[in-house]
Amino acid sequence: MLRWVTLLACISLLSAAITDYIDQCMDGKHQKTEPGPEDLLHDQCTPWKRKSCCTANTSAEAHKDQSFLYNFNWNHCGIMSSACKKHFIQDTCFYECSPNLGPWFQKVDQSWRKERILDVPLCKEDCESWFNDCSQDYTCMENWHVGWNWDNGTNKCPYGTTCRKFTDVYPSAKDFCEKLWSNSYKYTTYQRDSGRCMQLWFDTDVNPNDPVAKYYAELRNAAEIPCLGLLILLGSLCTLWAL
Ligand SMILES: *[C@@H]1O[C@H](CO)[C@@H](O)[C@H](O)[C@H]1NC(C)=O
Ligand SMILES: *[C@@H]1O[C@H](CO)[C@@H](O)[C@H](O)[C@H]1NC(C)=O
Repeated sequence: MLRWVTLLACISLLSAAITDYIDQCMDGKHQKTEPGPEDLLHDQCTPWKRKSCCTANTSAEAHKDQSFLYNFNWNHCGIMSSACKKHFIQDTCFYECSPNLGPWFQKVDQSWRKERILDVPLCKEDCESWFNDCSQDYTCMENWHVGWNWDNGTNKCPYGTTCRKFTDVYPSAKDFCEKLWSNSYKYTTYQRDSGRCMQLWFDTDVNPNDPVAKYYAELRNAAEIPCLGLLILLGSLCTLWAL
């Protein structure tokens, strides 16, 4: 009996190791469980309508100031410029709707989500245009994930911090894209259409991030093969012992 339980445990270990990182929705706060078509996606989120992890409701909320999604206040240091805000909206669409983030999922133990993204390689242009369009805007925090004063239900600058220009808070586009969401993104010098970086922006029928995710999914699978080998060995030993 114990042997069969052990065998089953080994087999489940094995199947856990063979992970497909393609077409996955993050185990986050608002994402769907499976990607699928969404005809009614709103405005800047519409590029994902053929295969989306966000619902129409989420896509509409993504365009609001202080939406019910995270109660996040973009205007914590004066009104954010519309040129800057459109990048944050795009970032929200990408985070909520993209079915291509699987290769960068990491399990986390947070009250509001079970998975996060780590080091998603952003195309140089997407990071730099975001930073440039926000260069005249102000913020008081470097990492927007932590440290806010949430006393009144939305994020405010904590006491003792001051509002400074984005360009004073972040010396470079790389600094900005990586520090903003605690390394969710990784700055790269890859250009759009290189097939090696993710685009926040696209308006094509075909999602240009599909092949990029496939490429990195294969890399991640390959990196896990040694672990897989060990598990197969353990599985075989278990089986021999069980028989
Ligand atoms: C989305 O759904 C929430 C909760 O059901 C609702 O309060 C909100 O008004 C909806 N937003 C839109 C834009 O439909
Ligand atoms: C929260 O609201 C109360 C009452 O309006 C106000 O006195 C307090 O300063 C606010 N706190 C913050 C952090 O803004």
